[in-house]
Amino acid sequence: MAISSLNLSQLQKAQVENRQLPASSYTNREIFAAEMERLFTAGWMSIGFASRFSKRNHAWPLDVLGQPLLITRNNRGELHVFYNVCRHRGHVLVAEAESAGKLLRCPYHSWCYSLNGDFISAPYWNGSEASHPDADQKSAMNLVTVEYVIWYDVIFVNLSGDAQPFGDFIYPLDQRWSQRRPESDLRCFSHKNFAMEGNWKLVAENFLDNYHLPWVHPEIGSSVEASLGLEVENLHLSNDIVGFSHPTAGADKSKTAKPLPVWRDVDAIEAGRQDLFFLFPNTCFVMEGSYLWSMTLQPSSVDQCEEQLALYVVGEKATAEQYSESRCQLSNLIYNINAQDAKVIQGLQKGRQCDAASAGVYTPFHDELAKAFHQTVFDKLLSAKTQRGPI
Ligand code: FES
Ligand SMILES: [Fe+2]
Repeated sequence: MAISSLNLSQLQKAQVENRQLPASSYTNREIFAAEMERLFTAGWMSIGFASRFSKRNHAWPLDVLGQPLLITRNNRGELHVFYNVCRHRGHVLVAEAESAGKLLRCPYHSWCYSLNGDFISAPYWNGSEASHPDADQKSAMNLVTVEYVIWYDVIFVNLSGDAQPFGDFIYPLDQRWSQRRPESDLRCFSHKNFAMEGNWKLVAENFLDNYHLPWVHPEIGSSVEASLGLEVENLHLSNDIVGFSHPTAGADKSKTAKPLPVWRDVDAIEAGRQDLFFLFPNTCFVMEGSYLWSMTLQPSSVDQCEEQLALYVVGEKATAEQYSESRCQLSNLIYNINAQDAKVIQGLQKGRQCDAASAGVYTPFHDELAKAFHQTVFDKLLSAKTQRGPI
């Protein structure tokens, strides 16, 4: 999707002058369409959590950027992602989440597929009941697969088919976490979705913003200084992964009355650390010693998106009844924070109805990550292809 010369020159001017993204980039449909193509479709976007699709012999339709996708789990527990489109005349294959048994059957002319996406049958193929396509024809009639990877329970897809290898994309964060905070120890205990009345970028920027914590979420810090995270270390792991590490935010005992178990191989000091990362274009992680919360942003229009959240504790013991109160306190705290942020997002979106919001001023201390986020959006929007690896 091309960007008109008026919008293009406004973006280029803001980039060159090191200013914030113009207000129009949060309200303009043309810029939104270009973002979906150049930021979302081109790279590794998240679409949900594997733990949400756990039932065997099931199929779940998804709308991702307006495109129909289908997630299936077969009888061996293997997950697949396809375009939710029949190979005959393109009818949507599955309209609602369903227990699929062994077969997916198109409602139009009854072509059938396995949950692995293999074409199975087309009735009366050549006019007679006994006729069937030959082997060569069949192999071209399987469902169209979507390239996907599951990492820390998040399902990442590459819709364009030409993103960098996922291993390169995730490498710096995988190096940081996978050894002492292995994915296999995570136990998902809660999912929740939030409708956000604002452009997806506002949710991402707010996620990377520490500055608002004492005023919007006073319950999470003992003092303004503690909430502001003055000791925070901003981290640019790559062009696609930015965030921060707070050495003591995870040590706050007030989150749960009874502390939850922590990672086996993480010492007490490390267990007190909070890592928060945003992965372009739409995945967020907050990792502490005793839990992980993950979020994927699904834009539905230029001024609306949905947050999907998943919360995890560490190790089987943390799923026991004796920790149910702690899990409940943790999910209440995190969901309450997200509800508070939903109001902020509304206010930020409303402010962008006038161009005065384009003249925003960065603070010298708190807005480094917002600035990095804006620069990456500029880069990806304004260059036909931004394919830089880890720094
Ligand atoms: S469109 Fe699916 S069987 Fe014809
Ligand atoms: Fe917040």
